[in-house]
Amino acid sequence: MAKRKILITTGLPYANGDLHLGHIIEQIQADIWARFQRLQGNTCYYVCGEDAHGTPVMLLAEKLGKTPEALIAEFKESHLRDSKGFLIQFDEYGSTHSESNRELVYDIYQKLKAAGHISTKTIEQAFDPVKNIFLPDRFVKGACPRCGAEDQYGDNCEACGATYSPMELKNPKSVLSGATPVSKASEHFFFEIAHFEGFLKQWLQTDQHVSTPIANKLQEWFEQGLQAWDISRDAPYFGFQIPDVQDKYFYVWLDAPVGYMSTFKKLCDPKCQPNVVPNTEIPVPGAANVCHPAVLELSAATALSFDEFWGNGSTAELRHFIGKDIVYFHSLFWPAMLHGAGFRTPSSIHVHGYLTVNGQKMSKSRGTFIQAKTYLKHLPPEALRYYFAAKLNDGIEDIDLNLEEFRQKVNSDIVGKVVNIASRAASFMAKHFNNQLSTKLADEKLFQHFADESKEIAQAYEARDFAKAMRLIMALADEANQMFDHAKPWAQIKVEGKAEEVHQVCSQVINHFMQLMVYLKPVLPEITNQAERFLAVNDLAWESAAQPLLNHAIHDYQALFQRIEEKEIMSIVEESKQAVQAEAPVAAVASQPAAPVKEENFISIDDFMKVDLRIAKIISAEPVPEADKLIKLQLDIGEEKPRQVFAGIKAAFKPEDLIGKLTVMVANLAPRKMRFGMSEGMVIVASKPEGAQLYLIEPQTGAEPGMKVK
Ligand code: MSP
Ligand code: ZN
Repeated sequence: MAKRKILITTGLPYANGDLHLGHIIEQIQADIWARFQRLQGNTCYYVCGEDAHGTPVMLLAEKLGKTPEALIAEFKESHLRDSKGFLIQFDEYGSTHSESNRELVYDIYQKLKAAGHISTKTIEQAFDPVKNIFLPDRFVKGACPRCGAEDQYGDNCEACGATYSPMELKNPKSVLSGATPVSKASEHFFFEIAHFEGFLKQWLQTDQHVSTPIANKLQEWFEQGLQAWDISRDAPYFGFQIPDVQDKYFYVWLDAPVGYMSTFKKLCDPKCQPNVVPNTEIPVPGAANVCHPAVLELSAATALSFDEFWGNGSTAELRHFIGKDIVYFHSLFWPAMLHGAGFRTPSSIHVHGYLTVNGQKMSKSRGTFIQAKTYLKHLPPEALRYYFAAKLNDGIEDIDLNLEEFRQKVNSDIVGKVVNIASRAASFMAKHFNNQLSTKLADEKLFQHFADESKEIAQAYEARDFAKAMRLIMALADEANQMFDHAKPWAQIKVEGKAEEVHQVCSQVINHFMQLMVYLKPVLPEITNQAERFLAVNDLAWESAAQPLLNHAIHDYQALFQRIEEKEIMSIVEESKQAVQAEAPVAAVASQPAAPVKEENFISIDDFMKVDLRIAKIISAEPVPEADKLIKLQLDIGEEKPRQVFAGIKAAFKPEDLIGKLTVMVANLAPRKMRFGMSEGMVIVASKPEGAQLYLIEPQTGAEPGMKVK
């Protein structure tokens, strides 16, 4: 069969925060798939890079007293270190802040403009009069114009779900300066995506460019009508200036996906030769541009061709692995931009769900917001690679990392089933048979059965159903262990005349171990590497699983993997609680205590007495599946029936931890109807203005439900 040519990418991490395990699951998914393809003999390049532009990067640099260039360089280094720590094998790692990206962005923009797909319009936007900067929606906060909930972002209300523009908020404030934003007019550039409606509808329905659930979801956007996309931002902005106009920049999401192209282009440059590390899987510390061995091969004669992968009509596969939050950009704007500018469009957008930890959104206070480097300090990358593989399929459901299940599964599968076989058989081989495998296997049929499974395992890998691949492989591992247990070599070896039988059984089991390592190679590249040394084989290929090692000398066995201990998991959680490096762009720039109380805000005692505060007992607390932020509470305040209250506190509390606690509620807030039911009051919590951390107000012991607080 003709070899496939494939280029894959993962979402370019923003250069303003550290990588966490959510980023890593995506990179592991892509890396496993890429390694599998290479093992099949296909050419597969995997590129990624930094998403360097935008307001949050600019503001963080300012806050830290650095240039944005210095900041993005630091994040590039640290992101690469983390990815390599997880054995992610990039063929090239770029940055959207590069000359080659600028050239491509300008080229695409000029083509879209020449074809009449760019328009301009003057729009009004929130402007911070103190910082002299236009404010992205998320940089304005205030009370919801619809339900009055305080402290809502400028784009939508997390309490009632209303959407609006920042200037519609009641009492809006800039999160940068605290100033009241003013509305200011400015001319913006727009990409007329509606011109591509026909093309996109067709594209989304054909050739499995996106999965059916995603295509259906995008259908909703067509129903609402495609709105022209605002692709410009006013100075000050960290990004590429729009040609031929003053002080206008391309919006970060315009140049971000072009980073996929420019990074690949670097790979086509023969200058990336000096970094080539032929035939090695071992990441080279600090080497940013490790080229794929295939490049070495190709560029000797002809350099890798950019057009072959990106030109219109390209037959190479282009696959983007992304999270469900950025589907809109990848499945609508990006194909339309490429198509409009005369490039090829993606072959597929592979969307995965979000990573949760212990069943909930990652949370700093619970210590489950785990950064890549925190994990790597305590545990080996392959434990997590295996666990994620065992959980990943091609669906978009969220993926849960349950820390206890993780520990047990890795210990039981990798240590108990896979590594165990090798170590058990190896001790016999060394002690009794001089590490020489037998000339014949004990059970050739069983070997063949393992070899025959390669097809189904390959199909599962290909379909990104890694969970299925892992299940098939572990079922084989069970069979190998059973065969060993059944043959009882520890007893047989003491029986006169049984030595050859034992020899064949142990050789058989070592051969099964070899087969398992072939199948696990995309997931466990380093363990496979060590296994190759133990087995004294050069480089296990997919076909090796069908070729028994007979009459072959192996080496002494050395431990391949350690059990995970509970204390290691605890250290990760503890350290994650302490890692305070803010991820969210807004939190990174503004996390001060509440502003001092000002005289003009004074109220009279009568005003205060209007608020009926009561001690409430939380008798039940459950998440609201449709709302990320909300917990549904039933509160006993000594009335006949408990009050139902929806509180936006899910990020900070586990519902089950709240049950039974006493707290304070506003009992005379007018009930309001929410999407999920009536909310009959409000609980009050303490927090910093931008902090994710919330503190429940608990009365002293002795207080009872229904008591008045005044
Ligand atoms: N910079 C954009 C992507 C631009 S691509 C041209 C971005 N960056 S990100 O750092 O926020 O996310 C990078 C990738 O990681 C995205 O695909 C995103 O979906 C994924 N994830 C970020 N957090 C995640 C989880 N908690 N779980 C799973 N994937 C997550 O978006
Ligand atoms: Zn609201």
